[in-house]
Amino acid sequence: MTFHVLTLFPDMIKEVAGTSILGRALLNGSISLDVINIRDFSTKGSKRVDGYPYGGGAGMVMEAEPVFNAVELAKSRAGENAKVVYLTPAAPVLNQLKVEELSKSDDLILLCGHYEGIDDRVLEEVVDENISIGDYVLTGGELGALVVIDAVSRYVPGVLHNSESSDVESLKDNLLEYPQYTRPEVWHGQAVPQVLLTGDHAKIEAFRHEQSLERTRQRRPDLLEKSHRVNVVWFGSEELEATAVALKEKFSLYGEIFNYNRSKLKNAKKRFGSSDFVVFITDEPDKAETALIKLSAHGSKAVAITPCVSEPDSSFFEEKGFEVIKRCCLEVMKDQKGCEETIFEIKKMIEQA
Ligand code: ADE
Repeated sequence: MTFHVLTLFPDMIKEVAGTSILGRALLNGSISLDVINIRDFSTKGSKRVDGYPYGGGAGMVMEAEPVFNAVELAKSRAGENAKVVYLTPAAPVLNQLKVEELSKSDDLILLCGHYEGIDDRVLEEVVDENISIGDYVLTGGELGALVVIDAVSRYVPGVLHNSESSDVESLKDNLLEYPQYTRPEVWHGQAVPQVLLTGDHAKIEAFRHEQSLERTRQRRPDLLEKSHRVNVVWFGSEELEATAVALKEKFSLYGEIFNYNRSKLKNAKKRFGSSDFVVFITDEPDKAETALIKLSAHGSKAVAITPCVSEPDSSFFEEKGFEVIKRCCLEVMKDQKGCEETIFEIKKMIEQA
């Protein structure tokens, strides 16, 4: 992954990106940095790239031409489909899903503004996406670009060592991470929660889930409103169970796996409610329709994954408010190859549900 950063302050980018884990990743070649100084494209002898705003007002505005030429240079060095991202507070705020999406390209062109911003005409012409790193105003886009570089790099193979887990524990399931503890067992008179010393994994997981919920309730109740319990339901041949387990891991730490072949579940009407998201996988698509309708209460969200060969009539599902993934067939899902795109698509559905 190459980050092309267009900035008036190249040292700021090089200094931070050259440190710690990012510095190591630059050295081992898993990421690269192409820093372009917009000032080098000044049309004036003074090397200035800013001007007074038309219509008056405080501050200066960066001119279109130097920015345009800097972007052109970055594009000439990047792969064909490189996205131009402008860091600005006037944009949707970055989140983990967006980070994951950005990590899927080979090149990112990050444009940093300064002063009162950049002439809008060039932004209209070259920018593919506007990103803010939070609802506050910084002196420039550089810190935003560094945040993007850092967060995206965690997904790039070779950047993190095994011990530095790339699994984004916090924020999976839209919940904050549970508290962590290490030695000593008692510190300042406070003991580590007893359950963590029992070695009982089921109990520990339940405890951590409760802690996550509580922390989210206290610190980010807005997240809790958007949080869905992700359930993977499988129906049909036994080998689907492994697929269900692998899929569940991608979406949720706490979600559950259900075997719809069991009569207990078959007879359980409206098992899922409005805070549930159901991923239904089956190689018997004819029966999937009734199963989904029976299991889900009105308002619950679900996605059905079926083999491409005998695709069910998707209009039936869509009328009932379900989405049907058609592109990735179950055969592909089974060996987990070639379905990253579908998995990401489902993640987006869960976020937007
Ligand atoms: N530039 C100035 N403020 C910013 C913000 N909040 N996010 C991204 N870029 C910015």
